[in-house]
Amino acid sequence: MNSNVRPESMARITTLELAKAFIDEQVKEVRAQVGDKKVLLALSGGVDSSVVAALLIKAIGKQLICVHVNHGLMRKDESENVVKIFGEELDANLVYVDATDRFLNLLAGVSDPESKRKIIGKEFIEVFADEARKLEGVEFLAQGTIYPDILESIKAAEGKKAVKSHHNVGGLPEDLKFELVEPIKLLFKDEVRVVGEALGLPHAMVYRQPFPGPGLGVRCLGAITRDRLGALREADAILRDEFDKCGLAEKVWQYFVVVPDIKSVGVKDESRYEGWPAIIRAVNTTDAMTASIEEIPYAVLHKITQRITNEVEGINRVLYDLTPKPVGTIEWE
Ligand code: XMP
Repeated sequence: MNSNVRPESMARITTLELAKAFIDEQVKEVRAQVGDKKVLLALSGGVDSSVVAALLIKAIGKQLICVHVNHGLMRKDESENVVKIFGEELDANLVYVDATDRFLNLLAGVSDPESKRKIIGKEFIEVFADEARKLEGVEFLAQGTIYPDILESIKAAEGKKAVKSHHNVGGLPEDLKFELVEPIKLLFKDEVRVVGEALGLPHAMVYRQPFPGPGLGVRCLGAITRDRLGALREADAILRDEFDKCGLAEKVWQYFVVVPDIKSVGVKDESRYEGWPAIIRAVNTTDAMTASIEEIPYAVLHKITQRITNEVEGINRVLYDLTPKPVGTIEWE
């Protein structure tokens, strides 16, 4: 698939049958492109890179080397799931890198959101490049580029200004030159999900809500500390668990917890208890350019509040953010 333009004749992939035909075609194309050479892939665990990984495992098996970089800003159990699904169940050639200390040390004391994004993006490339240099005989780099990415680059090239620098993975250093393998670059997100299902990936992975590249880094507001990041991760896991249980997970486009760097006075076990607030955000959107607020039933909010304040060390209040986009962006940073 060499063209970056989706032909008008290309049918929208809406069924498992159409997805299977697409997969068969891509398996042939990838095999023809890479022959017996090795292919490297940065596997974040997001929908796009996961679908590319599953597709390439089908096409070239162990010739694919997946590198999962845990930047320490993943949600609870996320890296563990990548290892379980790809390393164990799909028996992929998977390199797992725990780079938590590298990232958190660099981020210590940095409070400006765009500086945080830049540090995370740059370090991600460095960690990935370090791993790539250790490998021999790799000639190809697979990427989970999808059609909206291509359309967005065209817009960027036309000089339209972005509100936030979303692109986390820039180019690799000069000494690492690979030919690109981009099997899903002409697909829209809904089509990628159908292809993922046809490849047998778990529903929760294929329908995973969007998660920003800088991860919890832009939800642990201001300068990140390990204790506040830990509290955020636990509170976020509780929110996700409760949304799963009441069916909201299927209905809401993106939902998460934000923990700002402020403390308020509370009381616990009859003593003063200073803690951070956990802010809940739950939005619906079609294109992330505008977003509306989901109406969460009061009983669900009540349960989440009870659980977070009882179970998460360091959090003593729960707030619900009612601000649509605009005027608030979806993320707080
Ligand atoms: P905002 O906050 O701009 O978010 O309204 C719109 C969508 O983009 C996601 N987002 C990011 N994704 N890197 C990403 O890959 C980023 O730096 C980033 N910042 C925001 C956000 O989660 C939402 O889905």
